[in-house]
Amino acid sequence: MTVLKSYPFYSLLIFFFSALIIISGCGKDQKTSETKKGNESKETAADKKNSQVSPGKEFFYAKSSSNNIACADCHGDGTNSDRPLTKYFSDIKGADKRKSTFMGKFTGEDVIKTAGGATLCWEAYMKMKTPLTPEQINSLNEYYASVGNPDSPQEITYETIALPVKDKTKLKAEQNKILSLKGNPDNGENKFKESCGVCHGMNSTVKKIPGILEDYDGNTKSITYNVRFGDGAMPFFKMNVLSEQDIADIAEYIMKVNSKKQ
Ligand code: HEC
Ligand code: HEC
Repeated sequence: MTVLKSYPFYSLLIFFFSALIIISGCGKDQKTSETKKGNESKETAADKKNSQVSPGKEFFYAKSSSNNIACADCHGDGTNSDRPLTKYFSDIKGADKRKSTFMGKFTGEDVIKTAGGATLCWEAYMKMKTPLTPEQINSLNEYYASVGNPDSPQEITYETIALPVKDKTKLKAEQNKILSLKGNPDNGENKFKESCGVCHGMNSTVKKIPGILEDYDGNTKSITYNVRFGDGAMPFFKMNVLSEQDIADIAEYIMKVNSKKQ
C-alpha cells in the first residue's frame, strides 16, 4: 500500500508539524522572535521583555538625523508620559485601526498607507527629506497595533483651526480674543517650560530652532499665529490642550524675558 510505503515521509511530516506547533507556541507573544538569538534559557522574564524591542518601537524612539527629535517626544504609547510634549499631541495606540487621522486629512486606506499620517510628521516635524519606506510604515503600523486595544480603535478628535486648512478668519478672532486677556507671566513661564521648552528652552537638544527667549521681535499676535497654525517644523497646538489664557500667559512671559534682555 502506498500509505505504508510512504510511512517515513508521513512520520517526518508529523514530526515537522509538531515541532512547528511547539516553536510557534513558545514564541506566541514574541513578535520580534527573529531578532532574538541564542542563550534564551538563561534570561529572566524581565530580561526577555526588555530585549524584545520591535523594529516599530525602535523607530518610534529614534531621533531624527535632521533635527534630533523623535516620534516618542511628541506622541504617547502608554509608557512615555514623562516626556512633556506627549500631553499635547495624540497618542498612537491603535492608530492603524482609526477610520481617519489628523481630523480627516487621512481617511480609509490612507490611514494604513501613511502610518496614520506619520509620513507628514516625518517630513514636516522631523525634517526628513527622504520619505518613510514601506518597511518603516509597516513596522509603525505593527507597533500601533501592539500597544493598542484591538477592541476599541479609538478615534482622536480635537479642536483646531489648522486643519483641514489654516482658517485665517478664525485666527484673527483668536488673536483678538487673546490680546484682550491679561497675561500672567508666572503661569506663562510654567506653560512655556512644559509645552515650548523642549524645543525653545535654553537646554533644548532639538536642532534648528529659533531662540525666542532673546531678541524675539514678535508680539502676542505672531506668537498666537505660530501656536495655533504651527510653522514648518513647529507643530500646531490644539484648542483643548492650550487655552487662550495659556497663550496670553506664554506671550506675556516671552515678552517680559525679551524686554529684560534689551
Ligand atoms: C514635533 C512633534 C511631532 C513629532 C516629532 C511627530 N509627530 Fe505625529 N503628530 C504631530 C501633530 C501636531 C499631529 C496632529 C495633531 C495631533 O494628533 O495631536 C500628529 C499626528 C500624528 C498621528 C495621527 C493622530 C490622529 O489619530 O489624528 C499619528 C499616528 C502620528 N502623528 C504618528 C507619528 C509618528 C509615527 C512619528 C514619528 C515618525 C511622529 N508622529 C512624529 C506632531 C508630531
Ligand atoms: C517641536 C518643537 C517645537 C515646539 C514644541 C515649539 N516650537 Fe516654536 N518653533 C519651532 C520651530 C522649528 C520654529 C521655526 C519655524 C520655521 O520658521 O520653520 C519655531 C518658531 C516659533 C516662533 C517664531 C520665531 C521667530 O523668530 O519667528 C515662535 C514665536 C514660536 N515658535 C513659539 C512657540 C511657543 C509659544 C511654543 C509653545 C507653546 C512653541 N513654539 C513650541 C519648534 C517648536
